[in-house]
Amino acid sequence: MSPRQANFSPYVPRPATLVRKERLSDMVSLFAFEPDDGRSLAHKPGQFIMLSMYGVGEAPFSISSPPRRQSVEFEIAVRNIGTVTNALHELEVGQKVGVRGPHGTFFPVQVFMGKDTLFVAGGLGYIPLRSLLHYQLRHRDEFGRIIVLVGTRNPQERIFTDQIAELAARSDVEVYETVDVPDAGWKGNVGVITTLLPQIRSLQPDNTYVAMVGPPVMYKFVIADCQKMGIPAGNIYVSLERKMKCGLGKCGHCQINGVSACIDGPVFKYTEIQTLKEAV
Ligand SMILES: Cc1cc2nc3c(=O)[nH]c(=O)nc-3n(C[C@H](O)[C@H](O)[C@H](O)COP(=O)(O)OP(=O)(O)OC[C@H]3O[C@@H](n4cnc5c(N)ncnc54)[C@H](O)[C@@H]3O)c2cc1C
Ligand code: FES
Repeated sequence: MSPRQANFSPYVPRPATLVRKERLSDMVSLFAFEPDDGRSLAHKPGQFIMLSMYGVGEAPFSISSPPRRQSVEFEIAVRNIGTVTNALHELEVGQKVGVRGPHGTFFPVQVFMGKDTLFVAGGLGYIPLRSLLHYQLRHRDEFGRIIVLVGTRNPQERIFTDQIAELAARSDVEVYETVDVPDAGWKGNVGVITTLLPQIRSLQPDNTYVAMVGPPVMYKFVIADCQKMGIPAGNIYVSLERKMKCGLGKCGHCQINGVSACIDGPVFKYTEIQTLKEAV
């Protein structure tokens, strides 16, 4: 196989260079990369990449930036939790990684057009949802209400705080935020993310689509409450993260009752997975 052909194999990472790095919290940083071959990832909101730290290992990360026409740069935001993520956090601007993808399913932007979107972001779930959210903000006239719920364990773990404050200041975006455990300085809502749902005014359930990403424990409760509010199951989209190795539907690491989270997901319409026992 020629090197050129190898570059197009889904198994071969494309080199990319770190162009920007920004601390978001004690454990989470944002990393912006540019592919060395100058080709855009051409991703859709909700998709992920497999990122190789050379000599260390490979791991999946959601693409947090929206699709861009003008630039090949893309962003991920990563919690420093183990071997690969630790090596990534030590990377300096100018150093290289390998990137495969984009992989997986995505939020169907066309379906959301003209409708109201209820974003439900638990913890790191804001990272993938940010891609869809910023896409909608760039094409603001094509979407209805944008309602953003953000839930975090405690104020110290909040991420993208400046951007969320900017969103909250806009008249065309509704932002509701909560923490499970407050500190002395926290003036906002306290409680799990479902405590925010009754605060939303005049929701039109049939016209509302839900985009939800967060810890698995959150899904069951949020979905039940959304349905009680009258939002049809078919309007609810969730992203399910499972441990992944190949990202290509070959190794079986990410199986959920026979469904591969890496190629059939990570983004699912709730009606596609509601009968899978291990899904939510
Ligand atoms: C589709 C998808 C998208 C993802 N997007 C993001 C993202 O945008 N940002 C981000 O920070 N992470 C994301 N993750 C999780 C990320 O892939 C893991 O944190 C990463 O693989 C850990 O690799 P590591 O080598 O640093 O940790 P390891 O050394 O492999 O593990 C260290 C410890 O962390 C635990 N661990 C590993 N993976 C996870 C996990 N997924 N959840 C909880 N504990 C885990 C291990 O069991 C172990 O105890 C995503 C995962 C998937 C499947
Ligand atoms: S990660 Fe290998 S099948 Fe999904």
